Amino acid sequence: MTTPLRYDPSACDKYIELSAWTGLEPAIEAARAEVLADVALLEAGGRVPPHRQPLDAGFIRLPERLLAREEGDLLGRLEASAARLRERIDRLVVLGIGGSSMGLRALFQALCDPYHNERSRAERQGMPRLYFEGNNLDDDCAASLRSLLTGPDRSPANAADRWGIVVISKSGGTLETAVAFRVFRQALEQFYGANSEEARQLVIPITGERGKLRDLARKLGYPEVFPIPEGVGGRFSVLTAVGLYPAAVLGIDIRALLQGASDMTHRFRSAPLGENPVLDYVATCHLLERDRGLSIRVLSTWGNRLEAFGWWYDQLLAESLGKEERGPTPLTIVNTRDLHSRGQQHQEGKRDRLITNIVVDPPPPGEVEVPLVPPEEDLDGLNRLSRRDYPGLLAAAIAGTNQAYADADRPTADIVLPRLDAYALGELFQMLMLATAVEGRLIGINPYGQPGVEAYKQNMGRILFPSP
Ligand code: PA5
Repeated sequence: MTTPLRYDPSACDKYIELSAWTGLEPAIEAARAEVLADVALLEAGGRVPPHRQPLDAGFIRLPERLLAREEGDLLGRLEASAARLRERIDRLVVLGIGGSSMGLRALFQALCDPYHNERSRAERQGMPRLYFEGNNLDDDCAASLRSLLTGPDRSPANAADRWGIVVISKSGGTLETAVAFRVFRQALEQFYGANSEEARQLVIPITGERGKLRDLARKLGYPEVFPIPEGVGGRFSVLTAVGLYPAAVLGIDIRALLQGASDMTHRFRSAPLGENPVLDYVATCHLLERDRGLSIRVLSTWGNRLEAFGWWYDQLLAESLGKEERGPTPLTIVNTRDLHSRGQQHQEGKRDRLITNIVVDPPPPGEVEVPLVPPEEDLDGLNRLSRRDYPGLLAAAIAGTNQAYADADRPTADIVLPRLDAYALGELFQMLMLATAVEGRLIGINPYGQPGVEAYKQNMGRILFPSP
């Protein structure tokens, strides 16, 4: 049996009255029941009452549904297609923005070699290099990637030059992604030949059942298109084809990812407050915000692998609960790097933040140790640390930082991963998506939808497409 993720808020105990914790129990149970009722409502396929729209609770049961083949053999088809694509290209360009981009970035950074793109194909075990576009409007980046892919010495005859596109947009109408798709589709058609089979087969659209991208995919005859189900919102879609397909191309164990998520949902459903990572996390964050004014949620990651995960969570929390002039402000930090930039403020600034560490415990075995040098060269005094590895040094930094915060009455909590692997990441994604949904129901904010983002889109549309 795989050791599960733990949430440990014990360092917050002294800041939360016991009566507040027990007093919250009925409300938090009601929020859990509401989130589960959302799932039942969606699955029954009935009409969603206007006050509950949009309702994107489909992410909750999706991992178990995929594993149990309730969606047919979608998972098998997706893996087979990903394996075919991987064989045929050495560079994968993923186009998407927001929820259609950030989950994959988190997976890639957490689970692949930090220098993946710099490695030879053999060192990458045949997995393609990965590039992100369509997630901004940046001319330098788009131009540079296009020339990297299609420069004069590039040829489809060289295995190392071959590339393909995964284009992801649930609505199919997001301008940044749509423009990038047109730009890179044109480049791909010029590279392989406009009417070539490759120009069709090396484009994989992932999109909702309806929309402009779906229509375009049909019109252009792309043979493989994967769905983003109705009832799963963008930032809740990492465990649909959105994250799973490109992750499978990269050789990530997507079944382990889904199993971790499915196990987390099971715990969420069945465990009581006090033993339930989702409910405990929500209760801790909520009470510290309500009773102590800690409205900034610092997600404190250690080492470099979880920064993109933090960005994914920043988006999830900000877009889900930042409504009606309410909602906590998320902030991801990467330590020890950011101890040298933000550490001062966390230690002595305004008392407005809860710091949640994500730690891997026990620390993974390290490969890089402090070298021993001759005594006359030990002017930096590091011989006393010789043979200590990076995880050992990082563990000292984590313990020292938590101690410093505790001494200054700065609340911290820990999410403890027994390892950083696909299973644990599946648990973590699902834990925080569930927590966001529960907190929304607890405070009376619909966690789904992002009505505020429409304002910029509409204005931009008016500027770019003025009516005559
Ligand atoms: O969470 C969301 O729904 C958004 O962040 C979307 O993912 C983002 O706007 C991209 O939308 P789409 O996938 O429709 O292009």
